[in-house]
Amino acid sequence: MKPINVGLLGIGTVGGGTFKVLARNESEITRRAGRQIRIGAVADRDLALAQRITQGKARLTADAFSVVSDPEIDIVVELIGGCGVARELVLAAINNGKHVVTANKALLAIHGNEIFAAAQRAGVMVAFEAAVAGGIPIIKALREGLSANRIQWIAGIINGTTNFILSEMRDKGLPFDVVLKEAQRLGYAEADPSFDIAGVDAAHKLTIMAAIAFGIPMQFDKVHVEGIAKLDAVDIKYAEQLGYRIKLLGITKRVSANGADGITEAIELRVHPTLIPSRRLIANVEGAMNAVLVQGDAVGATLYYGKGAGAEPTASAVIADLVDVTRMHTADPEQRVPHLAFQPDAVMDTTILPMAEVETRYYLRLAVSDQPGVLADITRILADRQISIEAMIQREPVEGEAQTDIIMLTHRTREKHIDAAIALIEALAVVKSRVIRLRLEELDR
Ligand code: HSE
Repeated sequence: MKPINVGLLGIGTVGGGTFKVLARNESEITRRAGRQIRIGAVADRDLALAQRITQGKARLTADAFSVVSDPEIDIVVELIGGCGVARELVLAAINNGKHVVTANKALLAIHGNEIFAAAQRAGVMVAFEAAVAGGIPIIKALREGLSANRIQWIAGIINGTTNFILSEMRDKGLPFDVVLKEAQRLGYAEADPSFDIAGVDAAHKLTIMAAIAFGIPMQFDKVHVEGIAKLDAVDIKYAEQLGYRIKLLGITKRVSANGADGITEAIELRVHPTLIPSRRLIANVEGAMNAVLVQGDAVGATLYYGKGAGAEPTASAVIADLVDVTRMHTADPEQRVPHLAFQPDAVMDTTILPMAEVETRYYLRLAVSDQPGVLADITRILADRQISIEAMIQREPVEGEAQTDIIMLTHRTREKHIDAAIALIEALAVVKSRVIRLRLEELDR
């Protein structure tokens, strides 16, 4: 059979990896796909780089629009990134009847609804395994492997840069700024790592996973996002003493909520540093690795682990999509896996739970005067809001020190209740600084 012809937009790290792995594993991939997958055209501004990688084996151009309108191209692989020209190119490719494979999580999280609607109208596939957790086949698992389940929640370490930084802070007891510089020196963190550090990259990936897990539209603007820049190494140390590790988690959960018509369903969507029990497998995911824990009602917990970035791990996901699209290329669109795992007319606009209504456990650190009655004042405020303390440690003050740290773990409570209690605690004269508040998840059911 004639090879399927791919147009590659962007031949940087992932594009280069895709070219290399396709060439290296050509016969194995052809045996799987049923026909050869051939990169026929490459668009990149750096033509010299494109030439070095492709060695004359593909048509090169600096004009990506010429690739998406090339009648010879069957599948467009978008590896440009961002929401500007990438969006225009993807929509143009779809409107020209081409299938699209993309690693662009920001594009899908922000413009996915528009892109999938266009793809459905045009009867083409948009595949995006590489957009979430790099080489881990989590999209495949959620959309197909777990399709018998009502997914209850997902908790993922889906940003390698921040996981590397948190691992180093814990291992070496170093502050965030020092570790970030080291991560940049070693090439783990980008020169501008702001999307990673602020949790935005994880929020893009979480948006996509939530959509396909629950059959809801992409709602990036509703994700509660907190990054790791303000995290103090001392909290990592105290958490460890209490039997917890701090990870930047993307969490999405199906919960019951009080709606206008009684109890309804709502979805939590949040990214923030989270204490998790050190004994959980996912707590031991270190360095730049990614892991996603999925709780389904039938299967229970399943854990997916691997490299979330890098040339060949991400190429692995891109090529898996190319194989899928090649196999389904001539199939009736009705027979294909729906973009969002659920049939388009069954996607539901389930409410996203406001953060103030989210119920979880909390870690609190307070700097207080070391004098009688301080604890009583604090616990009274918590008790008045039905917030129960589960564990507590007090740092032994050094000789002559009039101040100490109290660290508490609470039982489950609502975010709005803990925030109200914190405001009152901070107003006490014996409390000497802002209360540090982190969330805690058991991840056991
Ligand atoms: N910047 C991401 C990370 C990799 O650090 O995990 C690409 O999604």
